Amino acid sequence: MCGIIGYIGTQTASEILIGGLERLEYRGYDSAGIATVFEGNMFCTKAKGKLYNLREKIERESNFSKVGIGHTRWATHGKPEEYNAHPHINNKKQIAVVQNGIIENHQELREQLIDDGYTFTSETDTEVIPHLIAKHMSKDTGYNGLLEAVKKAISCLNGSFAIAVICADFPDEIIVARNQAPLIIGFGQGEFVCASDVTAVVPHTNTVLSLENGEIARLTPLGVEVYNFELQRLKKLPRTLDWNLGTVEKQGFRHFMLKEIYEQPSVVRSCLENYLDSSWSIDSIEARSPITLGAAAELCSDVDYIQIVACGTSWNASLVGKHLLEQLAGIPTMVQYASEFRYFPSPMLANTLTIGVTQSGETADTLAALEMEKQRRMGLEFPYNAKILGITNRPESTLTHMVDCIINTHAGVEIGVAATKSFVAQLMGFYFLALELAYRRKTLSLEKIEILIKGLRKLPNQIEIILEKQGEQIQELSHNFCDTQDFIFLGRGINFPIALEGALKLKEISYIHAEGYPAGEMKHGPIALLDAKVPVVAITMPGVAHEKVLSNAQEARARDAHLIGVTSIDNAESRTIFNDLLFVPEIDEILSPIISVIPLQLLAYHIAAKRGLDVDQPRNLAKSVTVE
Ligand code: F6R
Repeated sequence: MCGIIGYIGTQTASEILIGGLERLEYRGYDSAGIATVFEGNMFCTKAKGKLYNLREKIERESNFSKVGIGHTRWATHGKPEEYNAHPHINNKKQIAVVQNGIIENHQELREQLIDDGYTFTSETDTEVIPHLIAKHMSKDTGYNGLLEAVKKAISCLNGSFAIAVICADFPDEIIVARNQAPLIIGFGQGEFVCASDVTAVVPHTNTVLSLENGEIARLTPLGVEVYNFELQRLKKLPRTLDWNLGTVEKQGFRHFMLKEIYEQPSVVRSCLENYLDSSWSIDSIEARSPITLGAAAELCSDVDYIQIVACGTSWNASLVGKHLLEQLAGIPTMVQYASEFRYFPSPMLANTLTIGVTQSGETADTLAALEMEKQRRMGLEFPYNAKILGITNRPESTLTHMVDCIINTHAGVEIGVAATKSFVAQLMGFYFLALELAYRRKTLSLEKIEILIKGLRKLPNQIEIILEKQGEQIQELSHNFCDTQDFIFLGRGINFPIALEGALKLKEISYIHAEGYPAGEMKHGPIALLDAKVPVVAITMPGVAHEKVLSNAQEARARDAHLIGVTSIDNAESRTIFNDLLFVPEIDEILSPIISVIPLQLLAYHIAAKRGLDVDQPRNLAKSVTVE
């Protein structure tokens, strides 16, 4: 949700900034802009719409500045117009600011600043910041440099923000500050890059420092100084990332989403390597868990209840998690929308583990829900004390700093806005957690645990088979649905959340209206929607409710719906009931979500691609939703 970048060094800043914004574009793509300082003057270029509009403008300019900041916007306050694009500049055109976050008291500050004689040119909350800095730089405030003026300005702000500031009077510095929104500083050779995400930093360096909440830093060509908001100097050491450039490039795929779908076998392999004890066997004399979750396992011992907070696809993954934690480990589990839970929490129960599930680790609602839970349990003694676990793909994210420990899902950076590989990796996280708890609580026999582990180990090859065998068939099938307006997805039990996920994937990237239902619910209302124009996708994996889903599918067929089945059963009955079949390998029902979701991801992708839509950056969405 908005990406910011800054560069100071020996190269032409505008090129580095545009390159960085391209890697941050998934965070927002309504408008973009950059500001640079050259020979004592501030230069600012902005453009509405996609980044190539800004690139075109910049290519017509000759700008040799070695310092600058940039922004790609997902509109919150004010329409996506050029005048609302960042950077925002003060009236004397000395100070430029880019911001990711929300300044909650901006209206009040705006009114005070207008009374003080400052003029506003945008509708954004961010524009108060350059004016506040200017106010604190005026001679009568006895200011002492840009750093101090920025510090004084941010002390007036309420809300979450990450900012980068440059000033024509201080051409050799960038000031950055962070409060509840991500900010990474990359250390190159004689150059420094700061950005909302490491994706914009890795092309320049693997040595990075994540700024923490309440920290402010000064970047100069000579180095980086980090302070707290009281301007006390802090000693911080950068770390080395094990990323390579390939992770943030398409590598021959038409879209990042397709690349990420095809990365899923290796993501699952990496989860298995990280969390399964390869030397464990049922015959080992030494009794130990087959799962290696480390601190996360300890946190979960002696819990009676689990509550999970999440949004979007992570919420769908959490529903699968609930099924696993209840069915395998016998622990009553509630899944809450983070945006609801933060204001309308369920009553506090004793011995409760709270899990925050977020791919990005930056989703504002999820972080706020967890913070709320921490606060209301603060100071309470066992068994009401807070125990908070995070499941995330970004161990460097804000989430990690606020929870007791995390399960790192090891999916690698995900650039496509529609979550795919990170969803499958979150499911893997839940399998490991549920199996660990089942082992500890002895709710499953060791024999059953061994069977499930063997099943998990087969998953990478099974996903590969689907990708190889189904890829082209699903691409062909997608041609039939380019003009479709509504889709229904049905599933039951552990595959009901997969119906929800199939519908979410389709609607967010193809803009086709889609709904997921537990198959048995169709006859209680949604069946009224069905006719020959509404295709129905039914996930009918063999298992407890298989026959029931088949009869629900037949009810849809009787209303002329075009029926698509996702199943591992290739027999005459399936071929008679369904118009199209998407086959997946045979699998234990409880493990089946990991493979039943793959054809649905491919279907959504190919329909959207066939409709000629911007699959990786669907309209109105952003990868990291850092506002409420
Ligand atoms: C859907 C999608 C969103 C996210 C949601 C939560 O494909 O990507 O629904 O799942 O915004 O994001 P995270 O998991 O980063 O908290």
